[in-house]
Amino acid sequence: MPTIGVFDSGFGGLTVLRELLKVLPGVDYLYFGDTARLPYGSKSAHTVAKYAISSTHFLEQQGAEMLVIACNTATALALDDIRAASSVPVIGVVEPGAKRAAELSKTGKAAVIATEATIASHAYQKALAQHGIQATEKACPLLVPLVEEGWVEHPVTEQVAHIYIDEMFRNGGQGADVLVLGCTHYPLIRPLLRRVAPPQVQIVDSAESTANQVAQQVKNCATAKTGTLRCYATDSVEKFRRLGSRFLGREIENIELIDIEK
Ligand code: DGL
Repeated sequence: MPTIGVFDSGFGGLTVLRELLKVLPGVDYLYFGDTARLPYGSKSAHTVAKYAISSTHFLEQQGAEMLVIACNTATALALDDIRAASSVPVIGVVEPGAKRAAELSKTGKAAVIATEATIASHAYQKALAQHGIQATEKACPLLVPLVEEGWVEHPVTEQVAHIYIDEMFRNGGQGADVLVLGCTHYPLIRPLLRRVAPPQVQIVDSAESTANQVAQQVKNCATAKTGTLRCYATDSVEKFRRLGSRFLGREIENIELIDIEK
């Protein structure tokens, strides 16, 4: 089994790691959360690419033999740049999410929610179009801070989500029968989004779809051993431990503070 490096702007990518651990528990994982420089969702493509490349280089130096770009924003804005700068296979979260949405959609129409930067890049719209699916996209910038605040079942989060989702399904989203969660943080509010989205709409979680694609890719390397997990963060280890455990769904032990700009 290859050692898999998982990269994200912070804690959110632990939702992708959580799905990876379900399908590939025997793998050694290295997780890098660029917590000192988050959020990526409001930054330019140039900055995101620069940050992502320095982080993924670090993961390669630590022994990553495959990279999963868990951050939707980094995938949307910089996947080609990261691939060009890497010497190992790189998988992003946008294509697996788009592919799954296309498999599920009967109307040929999808709705996508994500950060400001992901939506502005139209990466999901382009990926869905490749599969013959027409997409309506909506940036939901308030959802990331609400999830990080731990307000995953809070009336304010529900109201905010309602405003975004209703607006999207009123303005162009009519007929969409899949809703793609195009941000690492949204799986935590999936039950809330389920309540808020029209009932006929199926939810596609990019984290889940990506983990399944990675599993497909390494399926011939099955192992019976127990995998390991090492985490690296560019800001407070204590905060990473506290917030990260909510995203991963279990305690995180092995965390090291990294000064990536050195
Ligand atoms: N990880 C980011 C994403 O999936 C959300 C947090 C951020 O903006 O850095 O788009």
